[in-house]
Amino acid sequence: MRVLLTGGAGYIGSHTALALLNAGYDVVVLDNLSNSSPEAFRRVEALTGKKAPLIIGDCTDGDTVRAVFENHGPIDAVIHFAGLKAVGESVEKPLDYYQNNLDATMALCRVMPEYGCRALVFSSSATVYGVTQEMPLREDFPTGCTNPYGWTKWISERILTDVAKADPSRSFVLLRYFNPIGAHESGRIGEDPAGIPNNLMPYICQVASGKLDHLRVFGNDYPTRDGTGERDYIHVMDLAEGHLAALDYALKNSGVEVFNLGTGTPYSVLDIVRAFEEANGLTIPYEITPRRPGDIAVCYADASRARDVLHWQAKRDLKQMCRDAWNWQKHNPRGYGDK
Ligand code: NAD
Ligand code: UD1
Repeated sequence: MRVLLTGGAGYIGSHTALALLNAGYDVVVLDNLSNSSPEAFRRVEALTGKKAPLIIGDCTDGDTVRAVFENHGPIDAVIHFAGLKAVGESVEKPLDYYQNNLDATMALCRVMPEYGCRALVFSSSATVYGVTQEMPLREDFPTGCTNPYGWTKWISERILTDVAKADPSRSFVLLRYFNPIGAHESGRIGEDPAGIPNNLMPYICQVASGKLDHLRVFGNDYPTRDGTGERDYIHVMDLAEGHLAALDYALKNSGVEVFNLGTGTPYSVLDIVRAFEEANGLTIPYEITPRRPGDIAVCYADASRARDVLHWQAKRDLKQMCRDAWNWQKHNPRGYGDK
């Protein structure tokens, strides 16, 4: 069974590639390296003892995608991670986001049937639920977004749904990720953000390493237990394993299905700080600052559908997320720049 991973050199893609190779799948990666390093993939090969072709190319280009199917086939399924993902940047450069993220989805939709490939698993996001008040979030809740990045996920979901409606032999699984954090337990692969991190866990890791001075906690006046924002953090290896379950489902079914991939448990910013300190025996200095524009108070999944239908649920706890995040940061203070 051979699977094409678009964006497979990135954070979630590299962890999923590792899980797939360990489970006996053949893997082909197409990545333009716009936000990743080939070193991530070399390490995946070293950790698994298996080889997988990394094709450096753009997934928005139909001919490039076609050449991958032609030269590295037969490809049985696609997991489509490739995309730009920085919310703030998407507000400044909306056209770059719409073009990259939507053209990539459409190029795959066009080329796959030329090679008899029906099954695709798509990286969507909890961001498509917008500012819904009711928690936990269920897959059938109304959707809507607050920024161009979110809309690219929302529109991609729409495109895939319409394409599957027009051709019922297709099988698309849309995965709405909550907040992936942590790293593979080896500490050899992990999240390698460019510049100053936007997201909480990579920021905490850089404070722990001394690279950044202190954490800014964005608001302590939310209607939550301790006033700070609550999220559903999920270990990236649990998320990776969720893709194996989704892939299996996509190969055995047809039509479109949507699943949340989260733990179903919300933690506040201060919960994360304390858990990180306890798990790693470190102190994280922080100050409370005003809210970050665009943030919501609480966001967590109803994870029961993935459990009942995909027979998958997250296994790793917050302590392990914190330990593995720091283990990666500690051993790779400059990310993949430090080989
Ligand atoms: P990432 O940036 O580490 O990985 C994305 C990969 O796609 C990168 O390696 C990048 O070089 C590649 N890429 C981008 N555009 C491409 C193109 N046109 N052609 C080929 N390769 C291209 O991000 P990630 O955190 O691993 O996220 C993977 C997917 O999951 C993305 O689609 C992202 O939007 C989505 N997602 C991520 C999160 C998160 O918190 N990390 C949450 C929800 C959804
Ligand atoms: C952000 C994105 C979301 C994306 C997700 C995963 C925004 C508005 N949303 O979600 O679209 O899917 O990342 O990549 O950018 N926090 C601090 N200090 C920091 C960083 C974060 O207090 O330095 C707080 C935030 O206010 C939030 C929590 O930590 O309450 C988590 O933040 P973050 O990791 O950025 O994820 P999200 O905001 O949930």
